[in-house]
Amino acid sequence: MRTPLIIANWKMNKNVHESVEFVKMICNRLPANVTVGIAAQALALYSMKQAAGNSRLQVIAQNGAAAISGPYTGEISMQSLAEIGVSYVILGHLERRRLFHESNAEIARKVLTALHLGITPIVCTDEEQISLEVDGKLHHAFRQLAPILQNLSADQVQKLVISYEPQWAVGASQDAKPALAEVGCQRIRQSVADNFGATVADQVRILYGGSVNQQTICQIVGSPNVDGTLIGRASLDVNNFLRMLNCLQTKKKQKLTAI
Ligand code: PGA
Repeated sequence: MRTPLIIANWKMNKNVHESVEFVKMICNRLPANVTVGIAAQALALYSMKQAAGNSRLQVIAQNGAAAISGPYTGEISMQSLAEIGVSYVILGHLERRRLFHESNAEIARKVLTALHLGITPIVCTDEEQISLEVDGKLHHAFRQLAPILQNLSADQVQKLVISYEPQWAVGASQDAKPALAEVGCQRIRQSVADNFGATVADQVRILYGGSVNQQTICQIVGSPNVDGTLIGRASLDVNNFLRMLNCLQTKKKQKLTAI
């Protein structure tokens, strides 16, 4: 059973004080059976962890360096992230690739560092996919994901979270399209199954990110192959974020009642 994972990705928004206040407002109001995390700028993470205390809220980093330590001025040490109790890190987000020219090779090294330190990498990939037919069966390969996964064992792949983030959907003016989210995540799962086997594909959590809001979250997270979502703009307002979490909770209850 894959537990849904809902992540607020604040990007470079909110100062330390605002981040802590937000954590205090939500950390004791989290829905059951869903993992909720907030990816905030590195400066706020320590204070947010303190504010979250023993609650189930996950405090998440938006980036981390491939090197463990050394002469890398301005980088974020994943060892330090692990020390303060950060257990997830987003790697290879579209904005890191586009604005900071992160390559697949660099992201692959970061993924290995995170796994080595016991931090779960949330590996972002966009829609660059190629379809090929082998022995009459259609395979989908993801140009960004394949070079990252090829360095990993099946055990390591099973520990990843993969986030499907089509570049035309991130920061877009139109709402996310639940059907396209499901197709993208299903194809990624199929490609993991082709390369690492059905058990690994069944375990790995695959999220969708890009213009998710209160109107679309339930349908997206309710799709069979989508195990959660990364929410940018719509997660910045605490009441809006809580409403989205509540709507997942209500949906869950309705499903249970129907059974
Ligand atoms: P958005 O961002 O929800 O504002 O489109 C999503 C993301 O960057 O993952």
